Amino acid sequence: MQKIIILDFGSQTTQLIGRRVRELDTFCEILPYNKYPEDDSDVIGVILSGSPLSVYADDAFHVDLSRIRGRLPILGICYGAQYMSHIYGGKVESAGTREYGRQNLQFVDTTCPLFRGFEPHSQVWMSHGDSITRLPEGAHVVASTETVQNAAYYIPGEVPVFGTQFHPEVFHSLQGTLLLKNFVVDVCGSKQEWSADAFVESTVKELREQIGSDRVILGLSGGVDSSVVAVLLNKAIGDQLTCIFVDHGMLRKNEFEDVMRDYECLGLHVIGVDASERFLSDLAGVTEPEKKRKIIGRDFVEVFNAEAKKITDAKWLAQGTIYPDRIESLNITGKVIKSHHNVGGLPEEMHLQLCEPLKWLFKDEVRRVGRSMGMPEHLITRHPFPGPGLAVRILGDITREKVRVLQEADDIFIRGLREYKVRLSGEEARAVLAAGIPINMENGEIEVSLYDQIWQAGAILLSEVRSVGVMGDERTYENPVALRAVTSSDAMTADWAHLPYDFMAKCSNEIINKVKGVNRVCYDISSKPPATIEWE
Ligand code: XMP
Repeated sequence: MQKIIILDFGSQTTQLIGRRVRELDTFCEILPYNKYPEDDSDVIGVILSGSPLSVYADDAFHVDLSRIRGRLPILGICYGAQYMSHIYGGKVESAGTREYGRQNLQFVDTTCPLFRGFEPHSQVWMSHGDSITRLPEGAHVVASTETVQNAAYYIPGEVPVFGTQFHPEVFHSLQGTLLLKNFVVDVCGSKQEWSADAFVESTVKELREQIGSDRVILGLSGGVDSSVVAVLLNKAIGDQLTCIFVDHGMLRKNEFEDVMRDYECLGLHVIGVDASERFLSDLAGVTEPEKKRKIIGRDFVEVFNAEAKKITDAKWLAQGTIYPDRIESLNITGKVIKSHHNVGGLPEEMHLQLCEPLKWLFKDEVRRVGRSMGMPEHLITRHPFPGPGLAVRILGDITREKVRVLQEADDIFIRGLREYKVRLSGEEARAVLAAGIPINMENGEIEVSLYDQIWQAGAILLSEVRSVGVMGDERTYENPVALRAVTSSDAMTADWAHLPYDFMAKCSNEIINKVKGVNRVCYDISSKPPATIEWE
């Protein structure tokens, strides 16, 4: 399959470049700058990302482009553009201070294929400390801005090279997607064959070949990734798949039953294991967050393994690992960091091989694949939920009663978010549609629930805090509940959601009136970083 390679020099927006390319129905791989593949027969173009470093820094990242230049079109973004300038005879100098923000392009060359269809003063997003003061050999300037002379350059030829000082992948570069389309489709010749339907068709075929008549085990969590894997595998190998869903007793209200029913409707063979007694008794009296997580992790592996071992002829363990879990991203010190990997602790004697059919997909693509297979919308748009469940949302020790209280408050909050509809237009509507949520647009407006607008939400029980209240004629001395709702695109960073006041007022009233044991509701207005999404 045709693909674009994105060489990562450590920019925070490298993943975004990947997403934008995929949105053009073109497959792409993000690789560390020095890991260009030996076999590049299916590569149609290369993008060099930005970087927090200067090309002159002692620890600057260097890459050998000799195998690429002249064979494949190259687009350098920010550091990528500066780096090519630097090695091909141009000059890069410090701009004194870091320039950051919106700029407008002034075109010098209106024929450059990268900018076909651009408006005259198109807005772009800059974030750089160095500037290109002399262009590389053979290059000419295409566009400038008020402060940057060489904002974009072009080395024409049979196999062209382009450089942009700005970031086309960022939302504030208003025609950035057009620029990437011009590069990927027009210059590199992508046939735009990467789509959810095509992915399902080819993956089902590959899974059949890979697995043959073997048996596969899959741990389900109720979340979108593992559910999509289950439906894909079910399509490919039917009843050779056995799923295991462990209830550790700290799921949301009715979640175990609801999710089991959903899975049954999807025709999956699921073994539901109610292990809540064991988890809750092992957690009794434990207050330290890390200790709680360790106990839950250990118990989970043991419970899962005990079930998995009963499936004696299993040869494969399937997992819902997705691309952001695997991307080797670079940090500023130059070390390659391998992000977390969801591999469980199944005993080695089972000799299971790993099957990870979503390992190339971003979260929004997983959702599109789910939709393309006809999965119900409520399963596809479900918010992420942490493995340890409500355990990391009950501060202090965990008891069945505290879980019940939190489940009630959380249920009121989440149901409220689903029921409250807002009308959006313009950029806000575009963002929701770009996320793939199928909503009809009327008069340029869409109606969407608060739930669909945010990344993740939940309630937290501050069970070690008590405060005074008054209920009827009675004095109360009970726990507060904190509500948390965040917007995010990948959970690496997040902002607190600006929920409407009337919604918060209604929610708070309902929780305090209906949930016995709670007499106060607060809203968490911390962003990540420095806070995290979960409280523990
Ligand atoms: P934090 O709290 O680190 O969370 O900002 C980032 C994202 O990860 C989820 N999360 C977890 N997911 N097991 C999981 O499967 C965990 O132990 C865990 N801890 C946090 C969190 O809900 C958010 O989406």
